[in-house]
Amino acid sequence: MKNLPLLGLILPLICSYISVATAQSHNVTWGMVGPNDTLLEREIVTKKYKFLRIIDEEFAYPRENFSNDYIITAVRVTDLYTDGDGGYAMLTSGGPGVKYVTINLKSQRTHGFNFIIEVFGREDK
Ligand SMILES: *[C@@H]1O[C@H](CO)[C@@H](O)[C@H](O)[C@H]1NC(C)=O
Ligand SMILES: *[C@@H]1O[C@H](CO)[C@@H](O)[C@H](O)[C@H]1NC(C)=O
Ligand SMILES: *[C@@H]1O[C@H](CO)[C@@H](O)[C@H](O)[C@H]1NC(C)=O
Repeated sequence: MKNLPLLGLILPLICSYISVATAQSHNVTWGMVGPNDTLLEREIVTKKYKFLRIIDEEFAYPRENFSNDYIITAVRVTDLYTDGDGGYAMLTSGGPGVKYVTINLKSQRTHGFNFIIEVFGREDK
């Protein structure tokens, strides 16, 4: 209980840090885009909010029944929500170094999301 006043001092600091940290877009890039890399895919993935719900969506490259001969060098996810209310992207399999990638997109509760996903690669030779 001795440390309670200290906690009272630190907690608001932590909270304000978190709110600042989340009040922006959740851009993420896996790997690095090289100067000669090819843009293999560019897709806008948008979902409308559902009241009190978290929306989950899977993004996969290449698409089902399509093939890809390029080695992925980078995957860039741009969150078009700039107020921090947008979703989060998580790499679930593949990515830089291999020829496929799957990403899980997750909204915040009662929010939608709006992402641009770009997949870059180079020829496998
Ligand atoms: C996310 O990327 C977009 C487009 O490049 C940019 O306008 C925005 O400032 C970025 N947000 C953050 C927090 O880096
Ligand atoms: C990019 O391509 C140019 C022209 O073919 C080549 O000279 C350069 O070395 C390449 N750069 C990389 C990083 O592969
Ligand atoms: C992929 O191919 C299989 C077999 O031809 C087919 O049943 C399936 O519907 C296809 N999937 C898509 C998304 O086109």
